[in-house]
Amino acid sequence: MPIKLEEYFDRDTFSRIKECADQHETPFLVVDLKTIDRAYDELVDGFPFANIYYAVKANPANEVLSLLKNKGSNFDIASIYELEKVLALGVKPEQISFGNTIKKSRHIRAFYEKGVRLYATDSEADLRNIAKAAPGSKIYVRILTEGSTTADWPLSRKFGCQTDMAMDLLVLARELGLVPYGISFHVGSQQRDIGAWDAAIAKVKVIFERLKEEDGIELKMINMGGGFPANYLTKTNTLKTYAEEITRFLQEDFGDELPEIILEPGRSLIANAGILVSEVVLVSRKSHTALERWVFTDVGKFSGLIETMDESIKFPIYTEKKGELEEAVIAGPTCDSADIMYENYKYGMPLNLAIGDRLYWLSTGAYTTSYSAIEFNGFPPLEAFYI
Ligand SMILES: Cc1ncc(COP(=O)(O)O)c(C=O)c1O
Repeated sequence: MPIKLEEYFDRDTFSRIKECADQHETPFLVVDLKTIDRAYDELVDGFPFANIYYAVKANPANEVLSLLKNKGSNFDIASIYELEKVLALGVKPEQISFGNTIKKSRHIRAFYEKGVRLYATDSEADLRNIAKAAPGSKIYVRILTEGSTTADWPLSRKFGCQTDMAMDLLVLARELGLVPYGISFHVGSQQRDIGAWDAAIAKVKVIFERLKEEDGIELKMINMGGGFPANYLTKTNTLKTYAEEITRFLQEDFGDELPEIILEPGRSLIANAGILVSEVVLVSRKSHTALERWVFTDVGKFSGLIETMDESIKFPIYTEKKGELEEAVIAGPTCDSADIMYENYKYGMPLNLAIGDRLYWLSTGAYTTSYSAIEFNGFPPLEAFYI
């Protein structure tokens, strides 16, 4: 089945992007800032009680950061390099959370010196580093969550700790002179099962109650991370449904007096705003009788499409060629055999698709430019235009 463009972009937006795309040589990404603006408003409508901390890693372009800053967003920062970027744009340290649980002591100190007072952790060694380098700061502990099988890009295992350890860390935080402030979780990026938030919020509730009863610690905040959906081939519920359900889960556990709620959206704000435009470099078959073609294009895993690893994220691919489709393997331009985007999941490509035709990779605004290698096989990093 060919993809239906209108399921991903309205005519106006596509024409705006196409007009820009027609002026440039492939490969490049075009990002429509109006779409991000709308997505931000939609998130605020869905979660009017939440504070939004944009996960800068999804797309750290100044155009995106400035837009979101002007809309009142806060920022979830992963490294000192992201910190420098957002501060240079005039973001205030009070609007920043250092969300990475893996960090050098001297970088924590640099955050502290710039005025940042909100830190994530999930281990004792990191907590002790924070206590030394950022005394008196607010701490939230990231817990492990379920849901890795229903998230297209799971984040569990590497980050977070078990509930018991989270409680011990918050008690230790107080002993070390820090402020035990809250709990965070991330149910996995592109999480298709809304129930994953239900289970995570229930765990948080237990931690809030037990810390209060057993240690007299009253936590103030829940950071629910990202995980909200972008529009790829594999369908999800709408953001509105996510918001309604997650709000219900929160109210079931915490009643009407919700703690401070933080969201850290990345993908759901940015992905749908971008189209990566590539060109077909070669179409071939591996034998005279082979039933499938190989379509090689001038972008690949190393130039922005790393999330095709294990075919995790299935980007909708649009071409202006029409007619009968035939299954194709889709691969990138480098001399690396890992540079195959889709082989098991069969994309239908028009039989008349030819060298030089353009492919439009939809919903590619997030996690593409920032993942692109800088010189693999000599190819330059993915260029991007923000309109
Ligand atoms: C700590 C943290 N918060 C938020 C996000 C953004 O998640 P998503 O893109 O699913 O919205 C990530 C993604 O890796 C993350 O690591």
